[in-house]
Amino acid sequence: MRHLIDIQDLSVEEVDELIHTAEDIIENPEKYAEACRGRKLATLFFEPSTRTRLSFEAAMLDLGGRTLGFSDAATSSASKGETVGDTVQVVSCYADIIAMRHPKEGAPFAAAQVSRVPIINAGDGGHNHPTQTLTDLLTIHRERGDLNNLTIGFCGDLKFGRTVHSLVSALSRYTGIQFIFIAPNELRIPDYVKENTLDPLHLPYREVESMEEAMPELDVLYMTRVQKERFFNEADYLRLRDTYILDPAKLAAAKPEMRILHPLPRVNEITVDVDKDPRACYFKQVANGKFIRMALIMKLLEVHA
Ligand code: NCD
Repeated sequence: MRHLIDIQDLSVEEVDELIHTAEDIIENPEKYAEACRGRKLATLFFEPSTRTRLSFEAAMLDLGGRTLGFSDAATSSASKGETVGDTVQVVSCYADIIAMRHPKEGAPFAAAQVSRVPIINAGDGGHNHPTQTLTDLLTIHRERGDLNNLTIGFCGDLKFGRTVHSLVSALSRYTGIQFIFIAPNELRIPDYVKENTLDPLHLPYREVESMEEAMPELDVLYMTRVQKERFFNEADYLRLRDTYILDPAKLAAAKPEMRILHPLPRVNEITVDVDKDPRACYFKQVANGKFIRMALIMKLLEVHA
């Protein structure tokens, strides 16, 4: 039985195969409409979500399966003091696969130790978010035709932004990737990402504070929200939340073929008049999220179209 806790749980070949399957699902959705008939996906969301939970549910429904779950820890027995391990042992009696989001780093890993069914990490605290990464990779692949040879700028909250940590880890396995980390001093990329991923592979990266300085070089600009819920004090959040605001004027310095990604939700960091720029891909990214999750569910359940 396979789980997806960290993006490195999948080999590069498996990631490429998932992208290939997702692209086939986009072309031929009818082929997959019955693939998970009779199967159930449980979504256990101990933290807020719109896209991730609904895209998992839509993915299972479009595969002909069904869904159950909760979207608020307060309505589950967690509020009575039940441990994650016990909740998962219970739910794995009812469902064939579980997508789980939790505010504690490592909770999905702990769940996988006791689960009878595959566990998918749908975001654990400020740590990882591997299915957002699959979504991001599919988007970059569809937009550029290749995941190699690109300069990618990550901008915003690189400390708490779990989507950033997982995407850096995934891209570290392709060739010709240059990373530019654009963040204020307080929200820099964590040392563990450098020490565990970038440094051992001698991957080229730069840390800068100015978005304008990096802009002309970028093939992909990955914007992020300042993660309010992970701050210890409100004053720091208020001081840092508007550090970077992408607007049409700043985009004037970007390459015409650059792509703008954002895992969403957006707060202030991209003005709405950027949405109509052909380089803006964040809503396409949302659509791609359902297709790659369909591919992933099929893989973990070992079903075929
Ligand atoms: C992200 C998350 O939950 O980490 N959202 C998502 O899943 N698309 C990003 C965020 O909340 O800022």
